[in-house]
Amino acid sequence: MNLQRLDKIISSQTGISRKEARADIRRGLVSADGNTVKDCSAQFDAEKSQISYKGQALNYKKFIYIIMNKPKGVLSASNDRTRKTVVDLVPEDLKRNGLFPAGRLDRDTTGLLIITDDGDFAHRIISPKKHIYKTYMAELDGEVTDEMKRVFANGVVLADGTVCRPAELTAYNGNCATVKICEGKYHQIKRMFGTVGLGVNSLKRTAVGKLRLDEDLLPGQSRELTDRELKLIFKN
Ligand code: URA
Repeated sequence: MNLQRLDKIISSQTGISRKEARADIRRGLVSADGNTVKDCSAQFDAEKSQISYKGQALNYKKFIYIIMNKPKGVLSASNDRTRKTVVDLVPEDLKRNGLFPAGRLDRDTTGLLIITDDGDFAHRIISPKKHIYKTYMAELDGEVTDEMKRVFANGVVLADGTVCRPAELTAYNGNCATVKICEGKYHQIKRMFGTVGLGVNSLKRTAVGKLRLDEDLLPGQSRELTDRELKLIFKN
């Protein structure tokens, strides 16, 4: 039995504040197992009771896992006073309190971003010790050489002396390359290429583990991850 206060359940599942949840409960907008409940402190097991809000059954989930195709110009953060964040882009039906991006992409980087309210899950993705490789596609201002691949494979030493873990660099036609890294230092890919004299014109994350960006998602769009996709994240 996992009993929680009704206002907490409503707030966590809908994204409205606890204060708003309490007001709506008192207004009679919440029912549990078919009965209107106006007591905000009433306790329920949300997985066992059928709770409805504004006439809609809550599909209770302890945590939510969202895949987004991050567009350019949006901040990888939960909120910001002036700038638009990735959490602002999450559609209303997936919004909940406590959402955050599991790993940051620079404002001008696009592609696969995972947004969740599950801190342990995010840690498993982000921590370099967990060895989850993230794949980036870079458009560069020059060509990748075999020597650069060796430098990346041996662990790039950044300009400030920071040593990176080994990375896999693959060159494509033109000035395109993919890089696989299992850590997320500040501006890491751009700084890694900087050490070998290449500038990054554009950067897109295309995979996390074996989970690839769903190219049907337009920039800025998101949806819930399936159970199968969640498992792919933790495969390399
Ligand atoms: N490396 C970068 O330089 N930028 C990102 O957004 C991600 C990795």
